[in-house]
Amino acid sequence: MCGIVGAIAQRNVVPILLQGLQRLEYRGYDSAGLVVVNNQQLQRERSTGRVAKLSAISANISSHLGIAHTRWATHGVPSERNAHPHMSNNLIAVVHNGIIENYEAMRTRLTAQGYVFTSDTDSEVIAHLIHSHYARGNSLLVATQTALSELVGAYAIGVVAADNADQLICARKGSPLLLGVGIEENFIASDVSALLAVTKNVVYLEEGDVAEISLHGYRIFNARGEAVERPLHVSELSNESVELGEYRHYMQKEIHEQPQALADTLEGVCNSQSLIPGIFGAEAAASFAQVKSILILACGTSHHAGLVARYWLEEIAGIPCNVEIASEYRYRVSVANPDTLVVTISQSGETADTLAALNHAKETGHVHTLSICNVPESALVRLSKLRFLTRAGPEIGVASTKAFTTQLAALFLLTLLLAKQRGRLSVQQEQGHLHALRHLPSAAQAVLNLEPEIAKLAERFADKRHALFLGRGLHYPIALEGALKLKEISYIHAEAYPAGELKHGPLALVDKDMPVIAVAPNDALLEKLKSNLQEVRARGGELYVFADAGTRLQPSDGVHIMQMPEHAGYLSPILHTIALQLLAYYVALKKGTDVDKPRNLAKSVTVE
Ligand code: F6R
Repeated sequence: MCGIVGAIAQRNVVPILLQGLQRLEYRGYDSAGLVVVNNQQLQRERSTGRVAKLSAISANISSHLGIAHTRWATHGVPSERNAHPHMSNNLIAVVHNGIIENYEAMRTRLTAQGYVFTSDTDSEVIAHLIHSHYARGNSLLVATQTALSELVGAYAIGVVAADNADQLICARKGSPLLLGVGIEENFIASDVSALLAVTKNVVYLEEGDVAEISLHGYRIFNARGEAVERPLHVSELSNESVELGEYRHYMQKEIHEQPQALADTLEGVCNSQSLIPGIFGAEAAASFAQVKSILILACGTSHHAGLVARYWLEEIAGIPCNVEIASEYRYRVSVANPDTLVVTISQSGETADTLAALNHAKETGHVHTLSICNVPESALVRLSKLRFLTRAGPEIGVASTKAFTTQLAALFLLTLLLAKQRGRLSVQQEQGHLHALRHLPSAAQAVLNLEPEIAKLAERFADKRHALFLGRGLHYPIALEGALKLKEISYIHAEAYPAGELKHGPLALVDKDMPVIAVAPNDALLEKLKSNLQEVRARGGELYVFADAGTRLQPSDGVHIMQMPEHAGYLSPILHTIALQLLAYYVALKKGTDVDKPRNLAKSVTVE
């Protein structure tokens, strides 16, 4: 959460900062600001709201050194005074992503020293603390290092000083930050997408690193202050891949990218004749041979992927599986089982709760760890012994779409490998699953072709205030995911239940104003689900049923059927998800909400 960009160049860096911020807006969008160094002075602009507003007020500024920030408020309401950069005595300016835990103590100490605070943020203490060390004659690098040694918490920061037009200092611990390396110009950013227009050469800072950046190069120091080298990567992302193109929203673009994202994620697997554990890392075969159970830890949509996987893992691989919400697990006293494979799932790989849950699992004695993640250099990937990188490409819309379906594809592969390793997968079965996986991208495309029909169906929802999603078995988590998508982007209150639970309470909610959306694949639970739908209909509830081939469900008064083209067996959750994503998208469109940046949310939840 929160996005940082910084640049030092011979050209004017303000357009680079603003374009970078626009790319990072998905990380937070309640206020934005920038500061540049000009003639021994700091020139700052800040505004509430979106980066476009900041761009408008920054039109006349130019400089060759600056830092910028887009905010998702934690300490202090979204307001101009709380927007970054924060400054100390017009000499030091800081942008910060993260949370400083000992800020209250620091604030008291710095206030006693005469520093005047002008915001309610935790971040402002960083500016004053660095100033207190800089004012004693330390270099900007040493002042920053000393200040950071006194702070507790998580941070990615960029720092400039009014009287130092040649340097930009940055540091990271617990929040992501990378350097962008150009020719006679260098940059910093929370994420490579911010820099693709200026460079693809990036250096990922490691935990505790502090870097000093100038026009001609950079130096990196580790947490002990020793000069270190970090590898240079060339990003595979193209500038076009993070642009909207022909679509109205990133969410729509990302929904439509799913056939390709699935094909890319499954590429190596589908081209081979059989499955090999190596796709999860060199040590996967050895780990898989030892593990006797699975523990999945994740948040939000990624947690829903884990819930689907539990059905697959227990049914196909015959391996016991628990799925826990990371923010709960991290504080729960639990019993470690060294024979358990701990699987963390995350699009960003920087979700604070998921990272903490993984660390907690390790501390309690778990040794087998696997992360399924969409961001190769993320903290989660680095913390795990085994890894599978989904190849969904950058996901910019705050509501997760293609990351989820590619996570499901990865989890299905994990299931098949564990089943194979445990002697539960015949050669014919393996070939059958591989065939289904190869077909998955075109099956996903067939669901996308229903877009006009789903858009029409969505029109009926725009005036609703509540919605109930039902599913059974493998598709109960898909009902949860459908409800989450609808609530987060359309603000319609939506809940999901396993259809069999209706009569145990939620049926009381059903009346003519409560649309009930049912995920109804042609599986073993279909007949049971049909009875549950009768219970709804008998109470006057209006039904929207997402059926697939062979379900023999007919539309009637108060029963709307969305007929999906085919039944995909175990992979059916992926196809049904795509239909529900489209439903949520078109309901939000009809309601006129900000689809890509829903209120109060941000992508990459790097705070607790
Ligand atoms: C919902 C959504 C969130 C994320 C959750 C975890 O659409 O995107 O629920 O799934 O914040 O994020 P990651 O997967 O990055 O760990």
